[in-house]
Amino acid sequence: MDRRQFLKTSSALLAFGSLPKIVLAKPSDGFDYELVVAPADVRIAPHGNTPAWCFNGHFPAPVIRAKQHQPVRIRVVNKLTEPTTIHWHGLRIPIAMDGVPFLSQRPIMPGETFDYEFTPPDAGTFWYHPHMNSVEQLGKGLVGALIVDEAVDPGFDADVVMGLKNWHIRDDGSFTALTTPRNAFRMGTPGRLMTVNGKTAPTYYVPTGGAIRARLVNIDNTVTYDISGQGAELTIVSIDGNPIARPRPLEQHLMGPGMRLDVGFIAPHQAGQTITIYHKHDVLVTFKTVGADKQRQQLPSLPLNPIPSPDLDNAEVIKFAFEWDASINPIEKNGEVNYRFWTINRKAWEGMSAGDIPAPLAKLKRGKSYIFELANLTQYHHPIHLHGHTFTVLASNKQTIEPFHSDTVLLGQNEIARIAFVADNPGRWMYHCHVIEHLKTGLMGYIEVA
Ligand code: C2O
Ligand code: CU
Ligand code: CU
Repeated sequence: MDRRQFLKTSSALLAFGSLPKIVLAKPSDGFDYELVVAPADVRIAPHGNTPAWCFNGHFPAPVIRAKQHQPVRIRVVNKLTEPTTIHWHGLRIPIAMDGVPFLSQRPIMPGETFDYEFTPPDAGTFWYHPHMNSVEQLGKGLVGALIVDEAVDPGFDADVVMGLKNWHIRDDGSFTALTTPRNAFRMGTPGRLMTVNGKTAPTYYVPTGGAIRARLVNIDNTVTYDISGQGAELTIVSIDGNPIARPRPLEQHLMGPGMRLDVGFIAPHQAGQTITIYHKHDVLVTFKTVGADKQRQQLPSLPLNPIPSPDLDNAEVIKFAFEWDASINPIEKNGEVNYRFWTINRKAWEGMSAGDIPAPLAKLKRGKSYIFELANLTQYHHPIHLHGHTFTVLASNKQTIEPFHSDTVLLGQNEIARIAFVADNPGRWMYHCHVIEHLKTGLMGYIEVA
């Protein structure tokens, strides 16, 4: 299958029933996708438009579909009045494509274009977002799903991609505050309108008796979704982009900002039945069966991603403490007042410019295995994310863990978790909390692999 056929098939899959209209980016020559980053008025709220910032003028953003082990080329055009970069969350790709200003590339200035090209080694559910002025750029809508299809199609009958975001908007569409200092030093500022693909509790049609893959992507700045469901036997097949070795029933699953969850199910064998996914007691999304019975009995299985196994016996242990430091006063830099509420190993991120890159939190030797012991010494939870590597979550002092692969681990209050990985990707890799107001107020740093 060549790329064009491939794009066609995957968008046809997505367009099944009344799934959201997929906006396929019109690529310029030689590119698979073109993402134009610009302000756009979009209709999310019941009574008026929202002056959002969008990819290609729409929300939801185009779902980028790449194929495992095949290069994808994405041209980004910045039509904002401020610099930006795009980061591909969860992809193990070379540092030059990681999309972090100064650490891996020059910011894309207004009017400029930057070409990203990479070959995803892992298949699964990922996402993309800017890595500059993140509270505002992500908060106003620059968040999209990136799906890497398996080298061999696992054979689901429908594949539904759902971006979860609580918009900071009023019923008339106008924005409320994306951040307040008061919330930034607590759990972050939640938006008041909970949406899936920009809609409130949408209904998607799925084939009766079909094998369904429902991909949830937490593209929100703040909210940890507490996922459960009913109406079919729901199975967790993949966490944070990586299939799990032993799929298990979805009972309840916490998804912090940046995290993903693929739920598989066989739709009821009768048309007109509903399956519901909840955040706590609120309906996030409903699926309704339609059409003739596909008569599927079993979920297709997903191949595991080729994540290198860390050598735990010889791994070096590095400890990281995530702490709250309300005694830190706001600092003024370049006329901007910034609060520093959070620290990693007693250091708060002070920002970065071309000539002023802070020291790494740790220096790792390329090819060596590491165990990070992550201690959340605060009463708030933090989804801790590492760029460029996929780690194995080994253990926690608060819950029984069946080891699994991830790029973002959610630490509950006073939770200590151990993660391990092979530092096989050379570069300077961001390492931060994905509650955007937390990274903005100190909970960010980077590690260096050389
Ligand atoms: Cu979604 Cu620095 O990450
Ligand atoms: Cu990332
Ligand atoms: Cu945090």
